[in-house]
Amino acid sequence: MSIRAKVAGIGHYLPQRVVPNAEFEKTLDTSDEWIRSRSGIERRHFAAEGETTSMLAAHAAEAALKDAGLEAPDLDALIVATSTPDLTFPSAATMVQARIGMTGGFAFDVQAVCAGFVYALSTANAMIVSGQAKRVMVIGAETFSRIMDWTDRATCVLFGDGAGALILEASEGAGSAADRGILSVDLHSDGQFRDLLYVDGGVSTQSTGHLRMEGKEVFRHAVEKLAKTATAAMEKAGVTSEEVDWVVPHQANIRIINGTAKKLGLPMERVVVTVQDHGNTSAASIPLALSVGKAEGKIKSGDVVVTEAIGGGLAWGAVVIRW
Ligand code: UT7
Repeated sequence: MSIRAKVAGIGHYLPQRVVPNAEFEKTLDTSDEWIRSRSGIERRHFAAEGETTSMLAAHAAEAALKDAGLEAPDLDALIVATSTPDLTFPSAATMVQARIGMTGGFAFDVQAVCAGFVYALSTANAMIVSGQAKRVMVIGAETFSRIMDWTDRATCVLFGDGAGALILEASEGAGSAADRGILSVDLHSDGQFRDLLYVDGGVSTQSTGHLRMEGKEVFRHAVEKLAKTATAAMEKAGVTSEEVDWVVPHQANIRIINGTAKKLGLPMERVVVTVQDHGNTSAASIPLALSVGKAEGKIKSGDVVVTEAIGGGLAWGAVVIRW
C-alpha cells in the first residue's frame, strides 16, 4: 500500500471583462489576424480595477470546494502559485485562506512563473505522500495584466488574468500506474536563461516592472523542453503515450501546444486547448484548462492526464495524474 494524492475537486474563476484581439488594433500596430495566427489567442479576461489575484483565487477555491463537497475548514493546507501576488507580503495564499474562511492549517505561495502550478502540485503531492497533510488546495492565480507594457505589441497581446484551483487528498493506492492520484512529477529549472523571460522590476529594485520576453527563443526552448519533461514524467509513472487520455499543457501558444503534442506522438483530439479564450494566464493556465476540460465532459474519473509547463527562470516540468 502507498499513499497517493488524489484529485477531490476542481474549479476556476475568470474576471468578467473579456478583451477581444480587435481591442489592441486601436492602440497598437497589430491585428486580430496576427495574434490569432502567431499565438492562437482570440480573447482574454482582464481583472477589473481593484480586483486582485487573491480575489480571483478565492473564487476559484470556492468553486473547487463546492465540486469536492467540502468546506474550507476541511483543508490542511493551501498553496497559491503566482508571480503577481496582491502585496509583497503576506502571501496571496494566506489572503485566500482568510477570504474562504479557512482558519486552521497553513498556507503559502510558490513562485515558478508559468511552471508555478506544476511546482505547487509537486509540493502538495510531497506533503501528502509524506503524511504532512491530508487535504491540500492547490491554486494557480494571476493578474498578468498588471505587469504588461501596453506599448510592447510582442508581449501585451499574449497574456490574461484568471485562477484555477484543485483539491488533492490522501488516498490509499497499490503503488502502481492503476492508482488514482498523482503518479509522477518531473521538475527542472536553469537560471542561465533569465534574460529570455523576466520582469524588469521587483521589491529589491523598488519598482513593479514590466514583463520582457524574447519570444522566439522561449518558443524554441519550450517545444523541446516540454516534450522532454512530459516524456520523463510518463516514464516515471509507467504510462505510454497510448495510455494518455489527455494532455493539459500550459496555454501560451497554440503552435507550442501543437509542436509538443506532435513530439509526444499524441493527436490534438487528446489535448485540452483553452488558449483561444484565456490567453497565457501563467500559473493559472493549467488549472483553468483542467477545470474547463472537466466541465466540458472531457476529463473523467480514471483518465490519465499529463500536464506540462515552462516559463520564466527558465523553469519547467510535468505531472502525470490519474484523475
Ligand atoms: O508562458 C511562458 C512561455 N512563453 C511562451 O511560450 C511564448 C513563446 N513565444 C511565442 O509564443 C512566440 O514567439 C510569439 C507569439 C511571442 C511571437 O511569434 P513569432 O512567430 O516568434 O514572431 P516573432 O517574434 O519572430 O515576430 C515576427 C514579426 C516581427 O516583425 P519583423 O521583425 O519580422 O519585422 C515582430 O516585430 O512579428 C512582429 N510582431 C507583431 N506584429 C503584429 C510581434 N508582435 C506583433 C504583434 N502584431 N502583436
